[in-house]
Parts: sequence; C-alpha cells; structure tokens
Amino acid sequence: MSLLATHGGSPVFKVPPKLKWPIVDKADEELVLRSLYGDNHSYGINCECFENEFSEWNKNKYAINTNSGTAALHMCLAATGCGCGDEVLVPAYSWSSTATVVLHHNCIPVFVDIEWNSCGIDPMLLNKAVSNNTRAIIVAHLHGTPAHIEKIQQFARKYNLYLIEDACQSHGAHVHDIRVGNWGHCAAFSFNQNKTICAGDAGMFVTNEKQMYETAKRFWSFGEKRDPTQDRDNHAYALGWMYRSNDLTAAFGRGQLKKADKYIQWQRINAKMLSDYLHECSSITLPFQLPDNFCTFSAYVLRLNKDIISNDIKRLRDLFVTAIEAEGLEGHIAVWQRYILPEMTVFRAKNAYGKGCPWTCSHAAELIEQNNHKFPVSQTHCDTSFCLNTILRCPPDQFFIEQIAECFIKVDHHLDELLS
Ligand SMILES: Cc1ncc(COP(=O)(O)O)c(C=O)c1O
Repeated sequence: MSLLATHGGSPVFKVPPKLKWPIVDKADEELVLRSLYGDNHSYGINCECFENEFSEWNKNKYAINTNSGTAALHMCLAATGCGCGDEVLVPAYSWSSTATVVLHHNCIPVFVDIEWNSCGIDPMLLNKAVSNNTRAIIVAHLHGTPAHIEKIQQFARKYNLYLIEDACQSHGAHVHDIRVGNWGHCAAFSFNQNKTICAGDAGMFVTNEKQMYETAKRFWSFGEKRDPTQDRDNHAYALGWMYRSNDLTAAFGRGQLKKADKYIQWQRINAKMLSDYLHECSSITLPFQLPDNFCTFSAYVLRLNKDIISNDIKRLRDLFVTAIEAEGLEGHIAVWQRYILPEMTVFRAKNAYGKGCPWTCSHAAELIEQNNHKFPVSQTHCDTSFCLNTILRCPPDQFFIEQIAECFIKVDHHLDELLS
C-alpha cells in the first residue's frame, strides 16, 4: 500500500471532496424569501408552522420553537420546576450546555459516567449518584444513537425523578418505534449548523404534557402569559428569558424538516456501507447499534482501540486524524470533545454565579465534591474518539464511500509509522 500522505505519499482523494451542508434547494429559497418579504419577521406564521410540523414529525403533542437547543434545554429544566440546590444527574460526556443549563437554573449537576456502546449516561451507575436531593436526570442521545432510555426511564419512575432528554443531536432516532423526545417528560432538539435539520441556529422544546408546555412557554418569552401573536399585556408573570426564534429561521427550518427523512436514510445507508468496509481495520472500533435501536448516525463515531498502545493513546488518535485529513478529508473529520464535562473549568471552579452558588447555597445539601471521582468510560471515549459528520449526508454513492474507507484502511495499515 502506498505511503501515507503525511509521509510524502499521494493522498487517496486527488481532489478533496467539497460538500456543502445543509443542502439548500428552491423549496428552501421560496420559504425564506416569502418570509423575507412578509410582514412579520419576529414570531410569524413560519414559527407556528414549524412547531406544528416538527411536533407532528416527532410525534409530540406540543412544541415550542426556540433560538437554540441550549435555550430549549434550559426551558426543560424550568418546566420541571427544579430549583435552587436541587441535584440533577447528568452524563460526564456531552456538549457543555447539557450540564451548564443546570447551573443556569441554580441546580447542582451531579456527573455520572457514560456507557461504552451508547455513549449515553450509564443506567447501572444512577443508583450510586442519586440522593434525597435529586430531582431530575438529563440524558443525552449523542451522535444519533439513543441512550439506554428504557432502563433510565424505569429508574426515573422508581425514584420519582423528572426525565429530560437532550436530543439535540438525534433527530429521528428511536427505540421500539418510540422516537427520542417522547421517553422523558420533555426534550430539547437543536437545529444548529451541524445538525441533520439545520436552520442556522435554532432549537425546539417538546413535551407530551400540557402543564409542562404551559410552564415552559411562560419562561420562553419574558415571563409573559400570552405569546407574541396574541394580545400581549407586557407583564412578566415569571422570571422569563427571550428564547424565541424568528420567522426567517423558522422558514429555513421548515424547508429542511421536509427533507429530514431523506437525510436520515442517506446517513444510515452510508454509515452501513462504510462500516462494511472498515471491519478489516484492526485499530478502530466501529459504531455500535443496540438491537431495538434505530440510530441515525448524525455523526459517524470511531474509536481507536486502546490496547494498541500502552500510553499516549490521545496523541496517537490525533496523529491518526491528521493522517486521515492529509488523505483528503480535511474539514470532514474531527475530534468532537477534548474534555469530559467534570474537567471543564466552569464545573471545577464551583463559582457559577459567584460566591460559590449553587454549590454552597443554603438549599444545597453538603458540598458535592465530584472532581476526584473517576469517569473512566467518558475519559476513554474522549481520548480515543473522532468522527465524520456532514460528509455522510449525501446521496449514497458506493465509490465515494469506498474512497473514504480507503483513507482509514491506509492509515490503519501504516499505524506504526505514525509515531515514528
Ligand atoms: C448534545 C448537545 N446538547 C446541546 C447542544 C446545544 O445546542 P445549540 O448549539 O443549538 O444550543 C448541542 C449542540 O451541538 C449538543 O450537541
């Protein structure tokens, strides 16, 4: 096999693939232009339509269009009624806002390690983390793979805890035909630039409970009781935020939603084809799919096998990624997270809103000291993983996927040279 491109060989892709995400067509253009020349660019008809169409697509009773997934996630916490000093169980590996929203609500995040195959919070470890002050669990369905949601739901029911789903990355994923976003009391989706449904930056709060919907809606728009299409009395009934999206963004989101099923189908077919080729690579672990799960592969996540090197797996992973980039995949492969959440300064400093709040607040139990705890699975996943994301969102093309696979197979065969 030829030399690695990083070592002077010729790259697999002679011309690096240029794929634009999201794919924008005439239908998107028409929707956005109609909004642009319409007479309500704030909370207009597209926002309402997007809520209705998304809730119908995801089989939720209620939806609220927000300006980000983070806003929707914060609204989830608000809707549960969690408050000052309450503890919320969160995964030790996720996007930062899965846990920072807990701080924004003056609650205390209690980290729990993830489970290796699903990359979601480990249901077997919840027992150790729960206390009399625990009020909720946030489960993140990462990379289009549902967490072990049935077991987590059983646990939440047993301990009478609220279950919040961070479904920001997993539009359309399901377990036994029940879509993510329908297992918990409420859930958040993101429509940021990298997501399967992209609207620029936006999000969606969803729930099947009327009371949750009404509470969340109050926090969403300045603490008002009426939404902007109604006769507003400009009165703040609760501590609210400005978490609304706008008509232009919602128009774009509607356009993309219409294509979501097609995108998901492409992701799944491409992921399957790629996995079939990559089985021969002994240095990497392929994505895992539990039997009853429908994974969408919003990101195609690989892990370098830890046992191929006795130390410095992180450095080898980075060299592996650089070598793949040099084969022509620059911009299409990435290390998603370099820190597990408990290692992030915001959680270590224990000073979210100053003066030790919320950890030392009088409503909190004893000071929860978690930083010394180990989160071995999260840490290993963090140190060994890397992913392809939007590149698999294109019409399935065997030759193209074969070329992507060739990059990995080539680097896998030359692994020894990476460290030399
Ligand atoms: C798991 C997870 N949660 C929350 C978010 C936040 O979404 P947003 O960027 O729309 O605020 C993201 C964004 O990437 C995410 O991946």
